[in-house]
Amino acid sequence: MEGVVDHIMRDLLTRIGGIDLCVTEFVRVSNELLPPKVFYRHCPELHNNGKTPSGTPVVVQLLGGKPEPMAENAARAAELGAPAIDINFGCPAKTVNRHDGGASLLKNPARLFDITSAIRNAVPLHIPVTAKMRLGYNDTSLALENAKAIEDAGASEITVHGRTKTDGYKPPAHWDWINKINKHIDINVIANGEIWTIEDYQRCRQESGCADIMIGRGLIRYPDLALQIKQQRHNRQPLPPVNIFDALINLFLASRQESKSNRYLCDRIKQWASLLGLGHPAAMQLFQTIKREKCPDSIYSHLLAARNNAQI
Ligand SMILES: Cc1cc2nc3c(=O)[nH]c(=O)nc-3n(C[C@H](O)[C@H](O)[C@H](O)COP(=O)(O)O)c2cc1C
Repeated sequence: MEGVVDHIMRDLLTRIGGIDLCVTEFVRVSNELLPPKVFYRHCPELHNNGKTPSGTPVVVQLLGGKPEPMAENAARAAELGAPAIDINFGCPAKTVNRHDGGASLLKNPARLFDITSAIRNAVPLHIPVTAKMRLGYNDTSLALENAKAIEDAGASEITVHGRTKTDGYKPPAHWDWINKINKHIDINVIANGEIWTIEDYQRCRQESGCADIMIGRGLIRYPDLALQIKQQRHNRQPLPPVNIFDALINLFLASRQESKSNRYLCDRIKQWASLLGLGHPAAMQLFQTIKREKCPDSIYSHLLAARNNAQI
């Protein structure tokens, strides 16, 4: 998730457990072959066999509309050790769509085919090429055709976010539509959208007919959601405040170690505290306390104090 799930967040979340696979933020491809440093920046896990420190594979995500540069850059990511390449056919952002990438490509199935097959031909066969799509741009009229184009081009899996670009992030996610796509093609379909609880997970699997699911915002709000799902824990207790504050402290320390700016550090902690706060009242209380702070040291003191109080 662009602007939210970088390698630090992937490390924190995969340490908690239950996650089979992560995807990087998107690497934007326009015309040229990007230098290795760009791939390492998006995916430092390439230095670790393409895995997080706890061993979860990290797929490199590419976004762009031109087959040739997409293929060249996919080949480079593969050379650098990416365990798989995922293509973004779902981003709804105006700037991305204006520059011919993400969901705007869903208007033309032939373009999905051209981009996917160029990448498939450029990447060694043992490295999977996958794609993520929405149900369409303005409507679902091309949903099946788009999915088929991606399959025919040689992708081995498609993740479907059960909404059109126009739907944005407005609930519901149409898991029944994912089912139609799942029935229409032979490759594995992964269902995505609006999974916040273990019950959502079960309903989504049932309604979509998909065995596998992808979780986005649900894991940011409930970092142990994948673990609960894996362990089939129905009598769900939210993570105790002390674990939540520990996670925020770890995010702070890891981000500070990378010499990020003060502004970045503060925004990062506030961002996750506010998102965690939607599921954990203690995090919301912390967010209210720090939301106007501009000094990382004071934010860190508040984090430590909150953690100490939670332990008592
Ligand atoms: C802040 C944010 C950033 C996102 N970045 C990406 C991205 O880089 N690539 C992508 O395929 N989807 C991206 N998404 C979409 C999510 O992967 C997911 O499809 C969507 O949020 C629906 O799933 P959810 O209800 O589990 O969050 C992003 C979503 C959000 C809210």
